[in-house]
Amino acid sequence: MKTLVVYYSRKGYTESIALEKAKNDNADFLCLETIENTAGWYGFFNCVKFASSKKRMTLFPYETNVGEYDKAVICTPVWCGGISSPMLEFLEREKHNIKSAEYILVHALPMNAETVADEIDKLLDIKRISFTDIQCVLGKTLKEEVKAND
Ligand SMILES: Cc1cc2nc3c(=O)[nH]c(=O)nc-3n(C[C@H](O)[C@H](O)[C@H](O)COP(=O)(O)O)c2cc1C
Repeated sequence: MKTLVVYYSRKGYTESIALEKAKNDNADFLCLETIENTAGWYGFFNCVKFASSKKRMTLFPYETNVGEYDKAVICTPVWCGGISSPMLEFLEREKHNIKSAEYILVHALPMNAETVADEIDKLLDIKRISFTDIQCVLGKTLKEEVKAND
């Protein structure tokens, strides 16, 4: 089983979780980067502008052939209650290459990220294997729940 861990991370919290997962699962990983400004306060408000209108952010090119993998582990921070804008672009672009997936969803506020997992299912037109709901504040994990599919 060939697994790809793909992640976007603005501040590095999702990145450390994703890299740990890749290490544990002996998987390859792909870090998504966007050409849009996401740094500092201006960048934060730019991210809010994109996320609140469900607009996709342009990605820097990557060489990974996503269709080569049996399974994807999709790791994204929650932005404005939904998928982060760089990950949204990746999923729209690669939806035909992803056959099986689990999700790791990272957020700061106490919330149930199931609606975000459902949003990814719908976009990929698959039913996820499972998703991990992580509440993380300034790098400190306050909640981590794995929700397997019935
Ligand atoms: C534009 C933007 C919107 C966000 N919206 C939410 C939100 O709706 N709910 C929430 O719990 N956290 C929200 N957050 C916080 C991030 O999900 C959280 O800080 C996450 O750990 C960041 O991961 P990262 O370090 O990998 O970027 C938002 C952050 C940004 C930048």
